[in-house]
Amino acid sequence: MQREDFEALDRIDPLAPMRAKFLLPAGVIYLDGNSLGALPRSTPGRLSRVIEQEWGEDLIGSWNRHGWMDMPQRIGAKIARLIGTDAGEVVVAESTSINLFKVLAAALKMRPGRRVIVSEAENFPTDLYAAEGLASLLEQGHTLRLVVANELAQALDDAAAVLLLTHVNFRTGSMHDMAALTNAAHAAGALAIWDLAHSAGAMPVDLEGARADFAIGCGYKYLNGGPGAPAFVYVAARHHGQALQPLYGWLGHAAPFDFAASYRPAAGIRQYVVGSPPILALAALEEGVDLLLQVDLTQLRAKSLALTEAFIALVEARCAGLGLALATPRDSARRGSQVSFAHEHGYALMQALIARGVVGDFRAPDLIRFGFTPLYIRHVDVWDAAEILREVLVTGEWRRPEFQNRAAVT
Ligand SMILES: Cc1ncc(COP(=O)(O)O)c(C=O)c1O
Repeated sequence: MQREDFEALDRIDPLAPMRAKFLLPAGVIYLDGNSLGALPRSTPGRLSRVIEQEWGEDLIGSWNRHGWMDMPQRIGAKIARLIGTDAGEVVVAESTSINLFKVLAAALKMRPGRRVIVSEAENFPTDLYAAEGLASLLEQGHTLRLVVANELAQALDDAAAVLLLTHVNFRTGSMHDMAALTNAAHAAGALAIWDLAHSAGAMPVDLEGARADFAIGCGYKYLNGGPGAPAFVYVAARHHGQALQPLYGWLGHAAPFDFAASYRPAAGIRQYVVGSPPILALAALEEGVDLLLQVDLTQLRAKSLALTEAFIALVEARCAGLGLALATPRDSARRGSQVSFAHEHGYALMQALIARGVVGDFRAPDLIRFGFTPLYIRHVDVWDAAEILREVLVTGEWRRPEFQNRAAVT
């Protein structure tokens, strides 16, 4: 295939018009939307309105007049459509790390006789740290049982309280079979928590179909909610009322404005709200989520797989013998929306690519990651990125001294 073939694919891409809804810098191929999503064109205007009119003019009246108080649930209901759940099962609050703490604590309390949290060492560190921290707080002998992916089902015995997994691995882009593993957890009497950080907004997710118990995920990746955007949390309706999160706050109370001295949990998902919602950040997140609601998620997934498939094929064909090893599953059914390659000098290589306008990132010890956000990445970007990667490898420009020094964020 030639570059023109990729341009032809863009001409028939049903999602192509979505790219114009983002503000993307000229001369940049942005392959890091799996870390920080791009800026929707509508977000600056929305934020100006919220700041100048709602906050500036209407001041405190905006909590009622502009529906500020309902934003966590309103945006949660929109995200619910992206992850295959009902409106009343998702709310937006805090960060993924904090929401994970909430759902894990709630789940452990629902399985009082069991002390084991099953996960994988390859899980995102914050997920493992939250489990460690909670176990130390509870002081009931909870342990984290970390196994490799293909031993998860066997690790679920009658001591297992919770199966805690990230659906799409942040390093390799490898995707778990959510329905099968949830089913295995339930068969063992455990509950299943899914981290959807690299799935929500990248593909259709079917939490209900999988019978997942809890889920959490980020607002700043494929949902394009902006740096540090608030996260979401899902609790299956069948657990409402019994799955109580322990960060009791006034806005998770059944009647916050009664100002009662003791806590009475709100009946539904609102119990997972703790304190005052971050209105500016929520407004930005809503702009990103609204864009995703305009597209057919099946088309989104088809485009995502076409992009990652083509990138793997082009890089393997054009960069053969140049020190790259594919770390992402070839089987598209087991792949998220990113492609990672191992390279001995991965950090320097990625810095050289960024200097050439191909923005991905690096994950220690040796992975270069390329995220393909199907809303705004074109097929021709795949061709160009693979070509620039080949040039950077062939010329050895990554060896230049300025590419060797590690920054704090990689
Ligand atoms: C899988 C996964 N979970 C959780 C997080 C962290 O979420 P937060 O920083 O919102 O707590 C990340 C961040 O990249 C992630 O990739």
